[in-house]
Amino acid sequence: MNTGSTNVDDTFRERTVFVAGGTSGINLAIAHGFARRGARVFVMSRSQDKVDAAVAELRGTAAAAAGYAADVRDYAAVEAAITACRDTFGTIDVLVSGAAGNFVSPAAQLSANGFRTVVDIDLVGTFHVCRAAYEHLTRPGASIINISATQAINPMPGQAHVCAAKAGIDALTKVLAIEWGPAGVRVNAIAPGPVDETEGMARLTPTAAHRDRVLQAIPLRRYARLQEIADTAAFLSGPAGANFNGAVLVCDGGQSTLGSGAFAAAWAEAEAAST
Ligand code: HXC
Ligand code: NAP
Repeated sequence: MNTGSTNVDDTFRERTVFVAGGTSGINLAIAHGFARRGARVFVMSRSQDKVDAAVAELRGTAAAAAGYAADVRDYAAVEAAITACRDTFGTIDVLVSGAAGNFVSPAAQLSANGFRTVVDIDLVGTFHVCRAAYEHLTRPGASIINISATQAINPMPGQAHVCAAKAGIDALTKVLAIEWGPAGVRVNAIAPGPVDETEGMARLTPTAAHRDRVLQAIPLRRYARLQEIADTAAFLSGPAGANFNGAVLVCDGGQSTLGSGAFAAAWAEAEAAST
């Protein structure tokens, strides 16, 4: 990943950022964004190899970097990861919950376990990460950022499991914001639309034809860039974002302003043309 080696500023110097699912794609870019602003970063995902590779990469930019292999579906393992972060760095100032799974499947062909798997990773996993971290979060001043998606508000064919899970994350974010705000813990979400150079979009738009058609349903006619999501996370957790609580920031080039119809139709059209 091209991370850019220059520090942007030192807003997060002496701060610790924990990123669940932080070993690839958008979440790794978010970890790099905080690293470039002076933070210590701690990443967690299932694969020890991915954790090791991400930590090695982050050590190039972060004040310090460490990681832990755990599955967000396993509450005890998530607790162990949070404890490892606290033991290593002493504080947790920013918590990012972004582990997710996605595949395209019409609901009529989706097995019960397929539906449950995505809800378990995305929604239950987000609850696990927030719940296990809560008592360890620095307060006042801690910031939680859950990674949603525009599927939460735009129903999309082939994505019943993802739409349900991400809508649940938005609701969870708002409830936690109400319950934890008085203790000085802010809880927000970022809901990206399509983001370039990601596993998610490789799964959703596997061909150039899919991509071209989907782009026509985005008013800006482009996908988001990884760094734009990373900068949004840093904004929300920094001084300029200090009054955001319970917000779901949509970053989608205007895709969702058209409602679900245009995007869903574009994707379905491309899918039909490719089969
Ligand atoms: C139908 C599928 C399937 C597919 C898996 N399943 N893939 N069903 N179509 N393509 C079903 C399986 O048959 C099984 O059900 C159940 O799901 C669990 O599958 P496992 O392979 O055992 O699960 P697991 O090993 O836990 O892997 C989870 C996963 C996998 C989600 C299936 O793809 C994964 O690890 N993904 C992580 C990476 C990822 O998805 N990144 C993209 C995130 S982007 P049965 O009934 O057979 O037991 C994103 C949003 C993008 O989330 C938004 C863009 C706008
Ligand atoms: P990605 O590269 O596949 O990232 C997913 C991360 O989660 C990986 O680090 C993965 O590592 C980890 N992970 C997956 N299942 C896990 C589990 N059960 N326990 C712990 N970690 C797990 O995907 P991405 O496209 O960048 O997506 C990242 C986030 O952005 C997701 O929340 C996704 O829903 C959201 N999003 C993406 C897009 C997009 O355009 N790509 C748009 C909107 C929202 P391991 O394999 O090692 O576990």
